[in-house]
Amino acid sequence: MASVNSLASTLQQQLADALTAALPDAGTADPLLRRSDRADFQANGILALAKKLKGNPRELAAQVTGALPASDLIKDIEVSGPGFLNITLSDKAIIETLAARAADDEDRLGVPYNPSAGTTVIDYAQPNVAKEMHVGHLRSAVIGDAMVQILEFTGESVVPRHHIGDWGTQFGMLIQYLIEHPDELDHEDDKKADGEAAMSSLNRLYKASRALFDSDEEFKDRSRNRVVALQAGDPETLALWQRFVDESKVYFYSVFDKLDMEINDPDIVGESGYNDMLEETCRILEETGVAVRSEGALCVFFDDVKGPDGNPTPLIVKKTNGGYGYAATDLSAVRDRVQNLDATTLLYVVDVRQSLHFRMVFETARRAGWLKDGVTTHQLAFGTVLGKDGKPFKTREGVTVRLEDLLDEAVERATAVVREKAEKVGLSEEEIVENGRYVGIGAVKYADLSTSAVRDYKFDLDQMVSLHGDTSVYLQYAYARIRSILRKAGDAKPVAHPELELAPAERALGLHLDQFGEVLAEVAAGYEPHKLAAYLYQLASLYTTFYDQCHVLSDENPAEVVENRLFLCDLTARTLHKGMALLGIRTPERL
Ligand code: ARG
Repeated sequence: MASVNSLASTLQQQLADALTAALPDAGTADPLLRRSDRADFQANGILALAKKLKGNPRELAAQVTGALPASDLIKDIEVSGPGFLNITLSDKAIIETLAARAADDEDRLGVPYNPSAGTTVIDYAQPNVAKEMHVGHLRSAVIGDAMVQILEFTGESVVPRHHIGDWGTQFGMLIQYLIEHPDELDHEDDKKADGEAAMSSLNRLYKASRALFDSDEEFKDRSRNRVVALQAGDPETLALWQRFVDESKVYFYSVFDKLDMEINDPDIVGESGYNDMLEETCRILEETGVAVRSEGALCVFFDDVKGPDGNPTPLIVKKTNGGYGYAATDLSAVRDRVQNLDATTLLYVVDVRQSLHFRMVFETARRAGWLKDGVTTHQLAFGTVLGKDGKPFKTREGVTVRLEDLLDEAVERATAVVREKAEKVGLSEEEIVENGRYVGIGAVKYADLSTSAVRDYKFDLDQMVSLHGDTSVYLQYAYARIRSILRKAGDAKPVAHPELELAPAERALGLHLDQFGEVLAEVAAGYEPHKLAAYLYQLASLYTTFYDQCHVLSDENPAEVVENRLFLCDLTARTLHKGMALLGIRTPERL
């Protein structure tokens, strides 16, 4: 139940103290510690400091070395080049630190909590009612879900908000059509296909009503009146609107379920959830002068936001016709999240194409004083999903790919991969199906999470379920292989032996395991799940090297070597398992 400082942070602290001791006038100085090829770590900070104080860097480096406390941490330290310090840690320190981590909770692994954790309201997984979800919605859901797990693990209080598109003039047309064709939303209640059935009837209705709206002036008028009735809160109209929302949620949940992702109903607060605040939001903006009337609309202007014609592009909070748009809703949501949910951070997992919108919303909220001191805003912007051809992802016919078909195909391919090895591993049909699902969904999530979010990425199922390279299934196999070794070990148990000398591959693996907490802190602070994916991939690679070079269950090994290697295996497996779970990916025990 105790968190454990990493070797790097302990070393960093000792060096900083030694620097202060050697140079009392320097104040707090950063030794700039980095992992290095020459030794385990290199400290580069002394150079700049010596320059600043007009001292000799090599001398200063030697002084710092002398001021380090006597301990078991460092095996070797030498001054190199113009004044770097190359530091090699002792094998004992590596194993002792890892042992302390392993002794912590199964699921915590000694990772320290963020001492300055706050409350993050995270806006993610926000599809639109009565519309099919697309790959962009998939990205928001996958990245957002990973961020929720990661932030919570660091001790942050996290409040999810699924800002679904459940309001707007299109509901006038939909509701009016439903009134005139009352059976259109009914479908067979086949339990399993519920979501798909719901979506296909919504789709049909959407298309039919749109066609009528475009061709029939009288229907258009009736639809417009219906919008007025909806906004006025007419009970019959609202009840029908609610049917659209409920039906869509059946569909959304079926997709989230396929994605192996938990979404909770109270967290679904769509655009309509802020209706009561819109008027006040606009009034405050106008009264404080943050927004001004321009051509009948209520607008906020920015010096640095201009259209191609050089004219300023405003954020429109209230349209000329009196209607409220996307911006008014988002501004109201900011108020709600800060004032009622006590957010210290507002995080938005939204397509990069909406970056200008959010920049303007954040700036407006600042000007209006809704972002109290200490409240930060951040858009975790993601790029476009591309097809193999490098163009935005479409089917051969040029229509947007249905998300469910995509996920089904990923699972199908993954199941085939799993089945190929199933006999050797002795998997039952049930396990094949379950693993196929975890591998397929994991592949889709990992492909999304392993590149920096803001970059576009290619959706390539062949690559995603490949056993080689940077894929989730490679990591899942690494995990299953370790678990199988641990099962085979019989009476031999994972036990740390700090007295042993380590082989190079053991040291490399150990030093990487040591960094788990720091990587997580960095991933959480910068909203960069791809760095966790990269860490895990490297962990699996280092494990593979270790496994090739250091036989674990060999009769030739003394018992304590076997135990110590099993210990490294066990901590690697637990780290992989935890890291993958934080990305929303399962790690089957046998694969
Ligand atoms: N529903 C929107 C879309 O499909 C995303 C909503 C993003 N969140 C927000 N607070 N605006 O593009």
